[in-house]
Amino acid sequence: MERRERGGRGSRLAKPPDAPTPERVLAGLDTALFRQLVYLPETGSTNDVVRAEARAGAPEGLVVIADRQTAGRGRRGRAWDSPAGLGLWFSVLLRPTFPARQAPLLALMAAAAVRDAVAATAGVPVLVKWPNDVVSQDGRKLSGILVEMEADGDFIRHCVVGIGVNVNQALEDFPPEVRETATSLGLLAGGPVARVPLLQAILAGLEARYRRVLADGFGAVLDEVRRHSATLGRDVQVVETGGQAWDGRAVAILDDGALLVEPAGGGEARRVYAADVSIRETNAPTREANASIRPPGGGRATSR
Ligand code: BTN
Repeated sequence: MERRERGGRGSRLAKPPDAPTPERVLAGLDTALFRQLVYLPETGSTNDVVRAEARAGAPEGLVVIADRQTAGRGRRGRAWDSPAGLGLWFSVLLRPTFPARQAPLLALMAAAAVRDAVAATAGVPVLVKWPNDVVSQDGRKLSGILVEMEADGDFIRHCVVGIGVNVNQALEDFPPEVRETATSLGLLAGGPVARVPLLQAILAGLEARYRRVLADGFGAVLDEVRRHSATLGRDVQVVETGGQAWDGRAVAILDDGALLVEPAGGGEARRVYAADVSIRETNAPTREANASIRPPGGGRATSR
């Protein structure tokens, strides 16, 4: 594996000439769903491109990949830095038949696929951080997922699953404000990582999990997320969408995808559906916390 090259901005990971073009990606991709791939050297946000195609009637399975995004975005309107040549920035179009309230679970499904692909292609053990991230063992963010949906009531018109993976950034390639919290696969692996095999593995893993979800529900995906969770058993800070913050311990991921958190000050465990959860460094990860813990009320951990 090549190690590093010297660039104008100091020591950088060498960039493999591996633009993820449809020809290259499809050459080694044995999926039935993801056959229509579009590669854009530059665009605003691949989520926007796919949403426009979805509104125009594109079938599910469309994949739009950009080498660079000029307006990449994450959850809660945050910017997602997407420099050329250094990452995987892509979105896929799905038209699932399950009810709209289950759509957020697609972020966990995608995170599970990314985690597995990273481990398989680069040999780097990483974890799923609820609800939409893949992080290194020491908690730095490697990948983020943004699911956007249009629905009529509980009928899903389409879902756009946007996936960003930091592949070959050196630390100085990240914006200063995320340098303490972000990482890339190249940094974790100790050298450049080829983007095409990684994208192929992610797409194959996404399709396999999606088919299983459509046939049997989210049970297997949730078990996979629990097995590889960065969040379960950890002391966390929960920041609600309204900005209210509180501390607790993450004790379970429920069958509807909610994170069950025991408040630090005592009281009944709370189900968290949409929030930012940061992991505090006050306790080591344990594997004791799992799905067998019952939600408040004592019933089975199923739906809301
Ligand atoms: C997050 O961590 O908040 C989610 C980040 C999602 C980034 C990806 S990159 C491809 C797609 N296009 C975007 O504008 N965002 C997603």
